[in-house]
Amino acid sequence: MCGIIGYIGSEKASPILLRGLINLEYRGYDSAGMAILNSKGVECKKAAGKIEEIHKRLNFLDLEGDIGIAHNRWATHGEVNDINAHPHFDSTKTIAIVHNGIIENYRELKEKLSTHTFESETDSEVIAHLIEEELKRGLSFEEAFISTISQLEGNYAILAIKNGEEKILAARKGSPLVVGIADHGTFLSSDIPSFLEYTKKVVYLQDYDVVVATKNGVRIYNLSGNEVSRPVDTVEWDAEQIKKGGFEHYMLKEILEQSETIQRAIQQDESVVNRIADEIREAYGIFFVGCGSSYHACLTGSYLFSKIANTHVNVALASEFENYEHFLTENTLVFAISQSGETADVLEAVRAAKIRGSRVIGIVNKMGSSLTRESDEFLLMNAGPEICVLSTKTYTSQVALMALLAYALAGKYEDGVNRLQGLYMDIYNLTSRSMREHLRYLAEMLVNEEHIYLIGRGLQYATAMEGALKIKEVSYIHAEAFAGGELKHGPLALIEDGTPVMVFVARDNEKKVISNASEVKARGGFIIGVSADRHEVFDYWVKVPECEDLNPIAQIIPIQILAYQLAVLKGLDPDKPRNLAKSVTVI
Ligand code: AGP
Repeated sequence: MCGIIGYIGSEKASPILLRGLINLEYRGYDSAGMAILNSKGVECKKAAGKIEEIHKRLNFLDLEGDIGIAHNRWATHGEVNDINAHPHFDSTKTIAIVHNGIIENYRELKEKLSTHTFESETDSEVIAHLIEEELKRGLSFEEAFISTISQLEGNYAILAIKNGEEKILAARKGSPLVVGIADHGTFLSSDIPSFLEYTKKVVYLQDYDVVVATKNGVRIYNLSGNEVSRPVDTVEWDAEQIKKGGFEHYMLKEILEQSETIQRAIQQDESVVNRIADEIREAYGIFFVGCGSSYHACLTGSYLFSKIANTHVNVALASEFENYEHFLTENTLVFAISQSGETADVLEAVRAAKIRGSRVIGIVNKMGSSLTRESDEFLLMNAGPEICVLSTKTYTSQVALMALLAYALAGKYEDGVNRLQGLYMDIYNLTSRSMREHLRYLAEMLVNEEHIYLIGRGLQYATAMEGALKIKEVSYIHAEAFAGGELKHGPLALIEDGTPVMVFVARDNEKKVISNASEVKARGGFIIGVSADRHEVFDYWVKVPECEDLNPIAQIIPIQILAYQLAVLKGLDPDKPRNLAKSVTVI
């Protein structure tokens, strides 16, 4: 999965594209490159490494011209090196392309081009060579581009430029691509933050759209070459939301936004939520499907639906959903949870569900994402852009929406809204400076630990799962969650003198989980309690308000902050953990 951006207009392209790449870094950042069309032809600079490092070495701003494309990469085909960085060229070096996605039939296509010499190991490079071949057949640049696109299998968002052609051609299928319309020019990009400081006017493209962007504007076609129209939208997010807002890292900024984002998550159309609740009542079989933190939101949702609405739902990791597809019927209701709306595992599950006639409802953060288009209906999380690779505010927004649906299902929509609105001050206090200092002290105690375990029961077990993910993915400390009742079935063997174990306690199930904590304590464990009340078994207490069914929102926030502090203490970049990317658009 990668980030792509193109610009055509009256301004010099390279500084605009460089800023765009920096704003797209969260989509992948193991290499980057830029190609600009000018009097010398198509000039290119590209390399492996982070954008700032490459720019220091190659200076993208040396590239003159007002038409260009750029790319930052999260490798899927071919190792991370300069040659495999995009843009890629044809044999004549006059056609440059950037690509986000996977061309599944690239080997067969390369065999058809046996006279061509390919420089890289990537699947993407074949696109430029295919265009070259189509041009040799006497087609125009646009015709050659469309003919090329028609031969591709897999998913793609592609930008192409060619020497002598004052335009950028673009196409999308299964990977995000959006048009930005500014007074001085046009943007084509994987994501809105790349150009938001220049314009809020956007056009969300559909799969199989082909775009011809010139200095006179944008025209959109389908693969048959017929022009199609797409509405121009105005984005609510302003550029400031994208910036770090004065914090050192997006992660902290986004954690602290949660007192607001929970309130925005519940700004839903009551009639829509209640209608979805009716659909849940009528469905025969319900699945919650997601990955990572979104899966933990699904798990939390299953406990909430059971507890609040006395309704059973199945929970499945999206990557494991294929093992349940044979149960799906036209009466099954599948909720696909994904903040990016581009996670390939989730989209694959959605497509499988739709093939079997099931109805799919998305819970998603990004308008215009594939999930918003492929769901039969969707609820927007309204969390605003989440730039940090870790899901923090989007996770609690998902949980808030799950809770709201559960309350609606129980016929208590208003009650649900009131309870969620009542969280505002609780979350504000949980993210306060004094709480952050308290947690930094705990982080200093834990920063050199090799293992941290987290336990809970019911809703608190789901919270423990999410807490473990936060800690491990940002601090690289091994963290693992267990249901409290499971300790004695094996994990207790891991406990040594001083082993840190975090225990999530809710008043409605405290007895059993405190007993589990005592089992750990008796074997030398160091007990960190996360609860409204202090308990004798605690060696360290993180005080949180008792929020009953909404404990999953309140109790995860201190752990998000703790995980952040651990990363900072270890000198790591919390926004860009190693090996990870913000949206995993590969299976
Ligand atoms: C969580 O912090 C990670 N960013 C990751 O597990 C993420 O939740 C997962 O990849 C799903 O992403 P999605 O919500 O965009 O589908």
